[in-house]
Amino acid sequence: MEKILITGGKKLSGTVKISGSKNASLPILVATLLTDEDCLVKNVPHLQDVETILALLKILGKRISRHNKNIKISSTYRLDSEAPYELVKKMRASILVMGPLLGRLGRVRASLPGGCAIGARPINLHLQGFRKLGAKVSLERGYVQLDAPRLHGANIYLDFPSVGATENLMMAATRAKGKTVIENAASEPEIQDLAHFLNKMGAKIKGAGTNIIKVEGVNVLSGTIHEVIPDRIETGTFMVAAAVTGGDVVIRGANPEHLEAVMTKLREAGAKITLNNKEIRVSSGKNLKATDIETVPYPGFPTDMQAQWMVLMSLSKGTSIITETVFENRFLHVGELQRMGSNIQVKGNSAIVKGILKLSGAPVMATDLRASAALILAALSAEGKTEIFGVNHLDRGYEDIERKLRRLGARIKRIKE
Ligand code: UD1
Repeated sequence: MEKILITGGKKLSGTVKISGSKNASLPILVATLLTDEDCLVKNVPHLQDVETILALLKILGKRISRHNKNIKISSTYRLDSEAPYELVKKMRASILVMGPLLGRLGRVRASLPGGCAIGARPINLHLQGFRKLGAKVSLERGYVQLDAPRLHGANIYLDFPSVGATENLMMAATRAKGKTVIENAASEPEIQDLAHFLNKMGAKIKGAGTNIIKVEGVNVLSGTIHEVIPDRIETGTFMVAAAVTGGDVVIRGANPEHLEAVMTKLREAGAKITLNNKEIRVSSGKNLKATDIETVPYPGFPTDMQAQWMVLMSLSKGTSIITETVFENRFLHVGELQRMGSNIQVKGNSAIVKGILKLSGAPVMATDLRASAALILAALSAEGKTEIFGVNHLDRGYEDIERKLRRLGARIKRIKE
């Protein structure tokens, strides 16, 4: 078993380089199923979730070669249509293979993902959209089977702007006959990056990044080269790390345009942020003040930054309200933060946080990916030593985080027992 040991109280300072986006890499890698030709995807972070998707691509018949952060995906003689339980249960994003396989082969059998710690996370919107595109959907023994000898374009309205459903349907629609319009589509930067990649492959997608995406189906997609965008959640996490430790950090290689909501809220809370080309400098003194947030789809405040924000608010002056509207059960970190001294009360989908002067180190358990980042931030700002268990969650989504934090002065190490 591994744990992370942090001795808190050190102000972070220095420069950190942001990695490629996990949530953009995953759909882009699966989109290579839409072609037989070689694709080269650059700036892919070394993460457990990326390993899982590459393992799935191999099972489906792709050949993978990796040179540091560049991944070449080529074809073998076969393309399989089944995404097995063993891989889908490891990572929900595995269901993203449904769209490209359906578009390419006209059939796909994928294990249903089931829930996860932060919520039930159904896939009804994905399936409703596939039905509209002409697929027959059947469920049996925990698997969903989709059949459509030839997909056709359709008007699809998503009841909620789901990121995964938008990506899955956009990928399937690239190979449908005719025009597809996805209304109330998600507009996250990762969707824009996927559309950019697909268009380089020869797809005809317009409107990605807005709430209406139009896709004109094509007969064939070809190989291409693409560099993945920087990870906005990693960027936001380092911004909060700088603020919560009263530090002064320069963040390189990020795209500040993707973080408008987070930067606005950080400034409101009293952090100082300056932008210089692609560098973001974040510093703060001791005067952080309570600032409410509500998580909503992009361009609003991201749910993937909610847990980190809660740490900042735990140490800000006054009482703030954090409302989670995207996932129904994303407050699992509250209990762990309370063990470190935070004063938080959960009422329905809101958490009321009363700021205190100091957190204190304690043994804590990470329950999901962003919760583990929040515990790291709490530990960095706390008095004394914190042991964080459940490190596997962190390895799913933060490349090299210990080394990056150490370079900023943090006292952090991983211990294997
Ligand atoms: C993606 C991100 C995740 C982020 C989330 C919301 C990846 C790999 N993951 O997850 O980090 O937290 O967006 O920004 O990109 N829903 C339904 N039915 C569906 C699909 C979704 O009810 O068919 C609900 C979910 O249960 C959830 C909400 O919609 O409550 C948002 O989910 P969605 O946007 O689909 O998130 P993911 O794509 O799973």
